[in-house]
Amino acid sequence: MIRVVLVINILLLLFVGCSDEQKEPKPDVKDILKPKIPPKISVPIGEALYIQNGCSACHGTNGDGNGTKVLNPKPGNLQDVSQYKMGSSVKNIAKSIAKGIPDSQMVGYPQISQKERIAIAKHIKKMQRK
Ligand code: HEC
Repeated sequence: MIRVVLVINILLLLFVGCSDEQKEPKPDVKDILKPKIPPKISVPIGEALYIQNGCSACHGTNGDGNGTKVLNPKPGNLQDVSQYKMGSSVKNIAKSIAKGIPDSQMVGYPQISQKERIAIAKHIKKMQRK
């Protein structure tokens, strides 16, 4: 009989021990009524404009040209400087953004200001690897 009681006691202790571990801390009422504001995240302006203007839809978020597979000619790999037809410098890229590339889906973006085109071009310049 004593053994049985001991075993039951041990099992009870184990059970209580386990359930204690799984207990989540009670949420503080203050946190629910006034949730903490998450820290601000800032995206560099060139990157933001690259995504906002839809460049990433064709060129991919990292510029590898894999944004879409349906274009002919393909968007090309902006990371690879040897693939640029109009030059891979910030100045040339800004010009390509303004005027587009003839006979392709790459239209010109005259509506983007020159300052913003330079910011996008600088972002693309940072993507270049080879
Ligand atoms: C509808 C798809 C599409 C969108 C959107 C697009 N592009 Fe392109 N882009 C292309 C294609 C296709 C080419 C390749 C043209 C070629 O090789 O003839 C290209 C080429 C380029 C090139 C290389 C130019 C060169 O010298 O060969 C740059 C730089 C570029 N795009 C930047 C941008 C930027 C910046 C944006 C956004 C403002 C943008 N593109 C939006 C399709 C797109």
